[in-house]
Amino acid sequence: MKTIENISRMLTFVKMMRREGKSIGLVPTMGYLHEGHLSLVKAAKKHTDVVIMSIFINPLQFGPKEDFEKYPRDLKHDEEAAREAGVDVIFYPSLKDMYPEGYATYVTVEKLTGNLCGESRPGHFRGVATVVTKLFNIVKPEVAYFGQKDMQQAMMIKKMASDLNMDIDVKIMPVVREKDGLAMSSRNMYLSDAERRDAAMIYQSLKNAEMLIKNGERDVRKIIRAVEDMIRSRQSARIEYVKLVDAKDLKDVKTITGETALAVAVFFGKTRLIDNITLMVK
Ligand code: PAJ
Repeated sequence: MKTIENISRMLTFVKMMRREGKSIGLVPTMGYLHEGHLSLVKAAKKHTDVVIMSIFINPLQFGPKEDFEKYPRDLKHDEEAAREAGVDVIFYPSLKDMYPEGYATYVTVEKLTGNLCGESRPGHFRGVATVVTKLFNIVKPEVAYFGQKDMQQAMMIKKMASDLNMDIDVKIMPVVREKDGLAMSSRNMYLSDAERRDAAMIYQSLKNAEMLIKNGERDVRKIIRAVEDMIRSRQSARIEYVKLVDAKDLKDVKTITGETALAVAVFFGKTRLIDNITLMVK
């Protein structure tokens, strides 16, 4: 496994791979790797010749009061995990290389980003769209892999790639969970033992809502209330949002008819976690 820390060296490497007729798969990450990230690598290995994983903590997508400074970093662990999963190249660009002084260009996706995390984290998706565009332009992958865990992000990137004719196949892979159902996240490491136990309630509440809907419940307010009540029963939980949205445009639904996503953002202590499930309603 190679580690490339500089953009111009990556451009040269990619040119070489293309000349050899090799297809490239890209897995963008912010590091502190877990099985969720590695599931994307496994998918990439199946479909592309060369798997490039980027590790870059992108300041542009963090709000002024968010955790950019203390976001977990452990390159040594990441290198080991990536090597074991079969990553061919880690791309680890520096902040200065990605955003040199005078940097001035940003990408905004106007649909899909108004609700959910777009509402509570202004500027976040503009930061994500911008960095992912840069990574796409540098690596020029045939296929890029994202997780359903960050549903809104993944859908926005699919839309961006299509709208801007990027000619990249954006694949969205299922959420990887801990044994008790908690979605894996680099941020789970912030949780105290008590908060970690409380956080398992997120998935329980989502599964409970799924069951209510399966049993015929269609009242959006009742379903949301049931999810909220379950989460609030845990002492360290503070709900940011619990929403039922149309799985295609991510707008709030008034009644449940087609494919619907249940999405939540919840703080446990100071740690903000998100999760979602998609419900097929006939
Ligand atoms: P990060 O949070 O490191 O996640 C990298 C990728 O792993 C994302 O596509 C995310 O959806 C996916 N992922 C995270 N947890 C997962 C889980 N439990 N199951 C499946 N996939 C999971 O998301 C980002 O970084 C950044 O916003 C990035 C796209 C790299 C742009 O900076």
